[in-house]
Order: sequence, then C-alpha cells, then structure tokens
Amino acid sequence: MKRLLLEFFAMALMLLPLEARKTQKFTHQTIAIPRVQKQVLSIETAHTSLVILVHENGTLQTVHYGAKLAHPEEYLALNASSEDYNGDRGATYPATGGRYIGEPALHVKYADGTHNTELYYTGHENSEKDGVQTTTIRLRDYVTGLRVRLIYEAYGQQDVIAAHAEILNPSKQPVQLIQAASSALYIDADEYLLTHLHGSWAAEMQLDHELLGHDVKLIESRRGVQATQGNNPSFMLSLNTREFSETSGEVIAGSLAWSGNYRLSFEKDDAHRLNVVAGISPHASAYPLGPEEVFVTPDMLWTWSNAGAGGASRNLHRWARKYGVYGGGTVNPTLLNSWEGAYFTFTTETLLRMMDDAAGMGLEMFVLDDGWFGNEYPRNNDDAGLGDWEVNVKKLPEGIDYLAQYAHEKGLKFGIWIEPEMVNPQSNLAHAHPEWVIQSPGREIYQGRNQWILDLSNPAVQDFVFGIFDRTMSLAPNIDYIKWDCNRVVQSFGSPYLGEAQDKFYVDYCQGLYKVMRRIREKYPKVMIQCCSSGGGRIDYGSLPYCNEVWTSDNTDALARAYIQYSMSLFYPACVMASHVSAVPNHQTGNVTPLKFRFDMACAGRLGMELQPRNLSAEEKALAHRCITSYKQYRDLVFTGDLYRLASPYDGSYFGLMYVSEDQSRAVVYTWCTHFEPRTVGGKAFRLQGLDPARQYKVVEQNVDQSCWWGNGLSFSGDFLMAGGFNPILPRLYSSAIFVLEAQ
Ligand code: DGJ
Repeated sequence: MKRLLLEFFAMALMLLPLEARKTQKFTHQTIAIPRVQKQVLSIETAHTSLVILVHENGTLQTVHYGAKLAHPEEYLALNASSEDYNGDRGATYPATGGRYIGEPALHVKYADGTHNTELYYTGHENSEKDGVQTTTIRLRDYVTGLRVRLIYEAYGQQDVIAAHAEILNPSKQPVQLIQAASSALYIDADEYLLTHLHGSWAAEMQLDHELLGHDVKLIESRRGVQATQGNNPSFMLSLNTREFSETSGEVIAGSLAWSGNYRLSFEKDDAHRLNVVAGISPHASAYPLGPEEVFVTPDMLWTWSNAGAGGASRNLHRWARKYGVYGGGTVNPTLLNSWEGAYFTFTTETLLRMMDDAAGMGLEMFVLDDGWFGNEYPRNNDDAGLGDWEVNVKKLPEGIDYLAQYAHEKGLKFGIWIEPEMVNPQSNLAHAHPEWVIQSPGREIYQGRNQWILDLSNPAVQDFVFGIFDRTMSLAPNIDYIKWDCNRVVQSFGSPYLGEAQDKFYVDYCQGLYKVMRRIREKYPKVMIQCCSSGGGRIDYGSLPYCNEVWTSDNTDALARAYIQYSMSLFYPACVMASHVSAVPNHQTGNVTPLKFRFDMACAGRLGMELQPRNLSAEEKALAHRCITSYKQYRDLVFTGDLYRLASPYDGSYFGLMYVSEDQSRAVVYTWCTHFEPRTVGGKAFRLQGLDPARQYKVVEQNVDQSCWWGNGLSFSGDFLMAGGFNPILPRLYSSAIFVLEAQ
C-alpha cells in the first residue's frame, strides 16, 4: 500500500510540469531584420581585389581576396546558403552568436549575461585621401543595438589593405568585449602553407613552414610587452602549394600593427576553407565597454601577390617605407654603439676615445648605451639604478652635454640609451612610487633581469615616462638619437591604478605606450628613435610609426644573423634593420667569424659597430674604413630599394639577397656562404632578380683587391645575370661578397 501511494505521488509530480507547459503561452519574439539591397563591395588596389558580398538578409560574406577582378559584380549571382548549419561561412567579421560556431572575430558578453551577437549590414561609405581609398562598412546587432564599423584602407600602389574595426556600445549598460579582433579573412584554396616566425632572446625570428591541417592553429603572444621576442604577429600563406616559393605562386601576407598581446588564428573548416582571424589577444582582456564608448582595434595589414613570398615582402616593404615607419625611406647614419665595447664600465675618457675611433673609421654617430645614470643606486650592472635618470657623476663628471658636444665637434651625431618603462627595486623611484609598479595584491612581484615594470596604463606613469624622454633630450642641446629599451615580459600582472578593471590592463598598457610615443613625436619630430626591446622584442607595425629603426637582435654573431635577418626581411624592410659588427669570439655565441663576413652581413641593413675599437688592429681598422666608405655609396639602395631574396640560409649553404633601385638602374647584391660545400670551384650560381633584362650592368665587387667572380668589373645584360651567369666563388664557410651593379 505504502509503495502504491509513493508511486502515485511520483507520477503526479512528473505529470505536473507537462500540464503546466500545455497551458503556458510561448512568448518568444524574434526581432525582424530589415532586408537590404544585395550588392558587391570591392576594395581594390593596383593588382588586388577584396570582394565582400552583402546579401539581402544583411549578412556580409568575404568571397574573394586575390588578383584584381575586372567584374567583381559577377558575385551578385551567388546566393546565401539558407542551409548553412555551420553558420555564416565566410562571414566578413564573424561574431559569436547566431548560427556561427567557428573562431570569432567578435565576442561580446552583454549586461544580461547573454553572448549572442549577429551583425547585419546597415550601410557603407567610400572616401579618398592622398590616394588612399577608405571603405567603411556599418553593421548592427538588431537585438542589443551594438554597432560595428569595419574600416578598410586600400593603399593602391603598394597593394596593401589596412583593416580595423570599431565597436560602439550604444546601450545604457556596459558590455564586455571578450574578443574584438581587427580583421578576419576567409580563404578558399587547396592547400595553405603557413610561414611564420618563432624564437627567443638571441635567437629571434626563426622560420617555420607548416602545412595547415584541419582545426585551429594559434599564434599568440601573452608576454604583455616585448611581445615579438618569441613569435611575431606576421605570417604568410602560400596558397595551393606545399612548397614555399620566393618567386611564384599566390601568397597572402598579414601583419598586425600592435605591440601588446596578440592572437592570430587559422581555422581550416570542414569545407577545407581557411578562416584567419587577427587581433589583440583575448587573454585576460575581457575589455569593459561602457555606454556610448567605442573600442578601436589596431590595424591588420593584408597583402596579396602572385609573385611568391618575394612579391608579398616587397608590397609590405614599399608600404612600410611610405606609410608604416617613422621617417621611412630616409637614410639613417652608421654608428658605433658603446654596449658590447664597454658595457657598464666606462669613464668620459673611454667614451671620447671610442668617438675618436668611430670618426676615424668613417662612422657617423656615437651611441652611449646603458650605464650612464644613477648615483645613490649607480647603474654599474643590471641590479640597480633603472628609474633614476640623472647622470652618474662618478663616471661622467663632465656630463652628457660634454660628450654630445665632443661628438658633434668630431662630425658625429650623438645618441643615448634609456629604458623608461622599467625600474630596479634598488632605485629611488621604486621607493618613491611603489604603486607605479605592475603587481598583484599579496603576490610576489617577480623580477626579470632584476627589474620591475612600470604600469603604463596609469596616466601618471605615462607622464613620468614622457618626462624621462623629455629630460634626457635636455641633457644636451642636440641629442640626435634615442635607443628605447625594454628588457622583460609582464608576469603576475596587475595594475594598482585600474582597481577592479584589471581586464583593461594589457590593452591600456599598450595604448598608454602609444600615447607617450605620440606626445614624444609631437615634441620631437626630428630625433631618431630606435625601438630596441632587448633585441627583436618589439618588431611590429604598431611601434614602427613612432620609430626609425629596430634593434634586430642582441645576437650580433654574423652567422646567427643570417637566419634572423632573412626571416625579418619577409615582413619588415631593411631600412629599419639595425645590424652591428661586433668583436670575436662573439659575446653571445662564442663564434669566430672573419671581419669581412661580419661587415658584409651588417651592411645588408643599417650598418653599425658595437665593439671596443681600440682592440682592432690597424689592418682591421683599415678594412672597417673601406667597408664603411663603400656602404655609404650604395646604402640608399638598402634604405629605399626593392628586396629580392636569392638564396635562403634555411634551405642550403648560401644566403643571398639584393636591393634594386626603383628605376632598375642600380642594385647591390650580397652573397654569403653559411655552410661549407665541397667542390664549389665552379662558383655558386645566384639567379639575380628585379633587373631590366635588356640593360647592361657593370658589376663591381666591393672591399676586395681580388674579386671572387670572373666577371668583376665587366658589364653584362640583366638577362644574363638573371639566368644564372652570376656565379661568384664562395669556397668556405664565411666566404662572402658584395657587388654593386650600375646600368651603363
Ligand atoms: C638590451 C639591449 O638589447 C642591448 O643592446 C643593450 O642596450 C642592453 N639591453 C643594455 O642593458
């Protein structure tokens, strides 16, 4: 009986909710999406089209990025798939929500806890300024009112498109941007060979080629600052091939203009198509966007070429020289930097003699590196002094002014090192402003290279960092060059200034840095700035609009540099690549290379020296003088010419490249042997590129009395030189040669 009763009650309980449901009214209301006119938006450069199809239902689909289409409107016949259960394939700016289940460009969490965003076209505008065509596409989520603007700037002559997004929260409630990427691209090809860079300190920019399989490949930096010392926010995709080619085939290259955490995702879907999403990393950065606030993402640069990796690199370089690098396309001076020659141990006398030698060898600038500051906590090693930016009176009682004046009298420009984002715990600054240090309550403030990081999300710190630059510039009337260092990554992050809004930290830090750089550039348009960051730590198109050059790597071994400089050239132009001749055995690798090889490697970028010149013999100084003098004759090609890579050190025993003037009348060719090859008596044929096949070029080897090529001093047709006729003999590891070509 008891059992029967229990069963009865259990049945009644199960039935009740069903009954309730029968009587309940289903109240869900769907907001209607206005239909729009179907149309094709074609964003065009000289040789490329990015085609976006606006469907009648208001969704946006990227249907083509590649060769320029004469009739992009032919895509109008393509209908949106109503049965796309995988959701919005090819969405131009895919958002988490609706049918979309892939990697999103946008993921918003609303105040009511929901995560759904569906973006629909509401209009677009085109405008033009100084030859740059801008297309702004407006999108809207009709349920929440969220608005997005996609902005594409097309640089016609350079075949580069810079894309970014702006997200506006028009509601009365704050929202969280869990992800807000700059741009997405949907690509349809048979194969996708991804080329990207990885590495670490003194081994930056190592090359990886990887055939993409299905699912998601991520390239991400969570380092906070120094974001590019591991990998770089740049990549190439060789399409429809498993082979990387310098000279042929379709290549899409991309580079994110951001110096903080970034994420590039490559998702090959079940239809074998690739969705690339590029932007700020969402790591610990669910950015709060208040009512009426707008979030502006950094630019993502895209380029396409049908001339292989070389074509894609040249597009990016041309764009960078004209638009992406501060002072791009102008020649920067050769220099002697004090670091590897003196480190922290010097007096005024040491530096004056270094300047004498620099001037004697024909160099044009002297740069005083680390170690010149701090009194109570003198900067005699990396333990102390960072933050206390007053001149160390023991080492330099005559002051910086005296040094700068001496340099100028010698005909040298003068530069100086700072690391303004950092502080040693052993410094007056750390004692005066502990609240300016990045830290998390109750947790250890980890040190890196014995230093802490200042919290650039804090406007007071931004003012302080600007002030360091400002004061350093006032140490002498004509400081020509500042080397801006940054020697560690963010760990155990936290901003005392941001309070509960810690999600803003990584983004606000980077934006804080850019605010400071903008102020600096307003006040000091002429000073040259090197973005150093421990070597290779901040090589990105976010920093370069403020900086004339980068310190490529702390690894100054010319052999190691072959690999680093080759990879860097895929995305960044030679005009920003600082490359220095240093002592042997090399201080990083212990390797011993001939001075000529070291010069020939450094002369492929902005040439400098970084050693104690008094340790050079008279013969070595004479060779240095010869190499520097000849470099000055052809260096305009390094700074403004088009790069053609001739041989990769990653693929064989030789590295070769050349820079060609725009009018094809001059070129400089570099060849290096990076690995011993037996039986090279016949010479190594390098097929030159970029010359006018019909013109005659006189070929002259630099800096030698006896040339390694039988054709030295003679003239040859561009045709001949590009067909393999140029075959210098580079018989040993570290054999190298530079040739200058002039059209007759
Ligand atoms: C790291 C840089 O990369 C070096 O060139 C040098 O400036 C040191 N910092 C100085 O501490």
